[in-house]
Amino acid sequence: MIMIAPSILSADFGKLAEAVRLVEAAGADLVHVDIMDGHFVPNLTFGPRLVAALKKETALPLDVHLMVDNPNAAIPWFLEAGADWISIHCEASSHLHRDVSLIRDAGRKAGVALNPATPIHALDEILDGLDFVLVMCVNPGRGSQKFIETSHRKIQRLRRHLKDQNLKAVVEIDGGVNLQNIAILARDGAQIFVAGNAVFNHPDPRQAISLLKELAGRVDAS
Ligand code: DX5
Ligand code: ZN
Repeated sequence: MIMIAPSILSADFGKLAEAVRLVEAAGADLVHVDIMDGHFVPNLTFGPRLVAALKKETALPLDVHLMVDNPNAAIPWFLEAGADWISIHCEASSHLHRDVSLIRDAGRKAGVALNPATPIHALDEILDGLDFVLVMCVNPGRGSQKFIETSHRKIQRLRRHLKDQNLKAVVEIDGGVNLQNIAILARDGAQIFVAGNAVFNHPDPRQAISLLKELAGRVDAS
């Protein structure tokens, strides 16, 4: 299973409806929406009203990445707004099991995001209750950053661990994914690829999405 999730963080904020329609027409699988609160990360982006508005513009599932302190307070807003997939940061949640349950009990896909310095082991006790793990390959906060090379090992280890344990969580990766490295990342075991810069700063975003998909899809990581 290979999915491409364009991140609208790199789109023109004045034309977000157009951006989601474009990625849908280009064959994207999810729309990645980066929510930043100015506390957990030093940047402010969107709130639940934007998610609710985008929901009306596309049939694609909205993959909402919460980079916020106190996700417990924010999760209900985004459930209400229609988020289909929600990831919260391991480092931001004091009660990860409770927060993940809040998402799953609402029938949505629940994921936990790991900053580059956070070990996979932090998820040991809840991994079997997750739909996906979001491996950050940059420090969260902004788009167009350089891929952190040690992420390759982390993705490989996570995917192997999930297989060995027979767990169904899928591996999503976020940050620095591009046309040059996506095939290697697919070989590492990544299954869902977030891409902001590689899509929206490409001269032809539609073509970028189909190329990303093709390059990742050629690899058999099973
Ligand atoms: C970073 C965000 C990413 C970002 C990725 O904090 O979580 O989703 O949009 O952007 P690129 O693909 O440009 O690294
Ligand atoms: Zn993200």
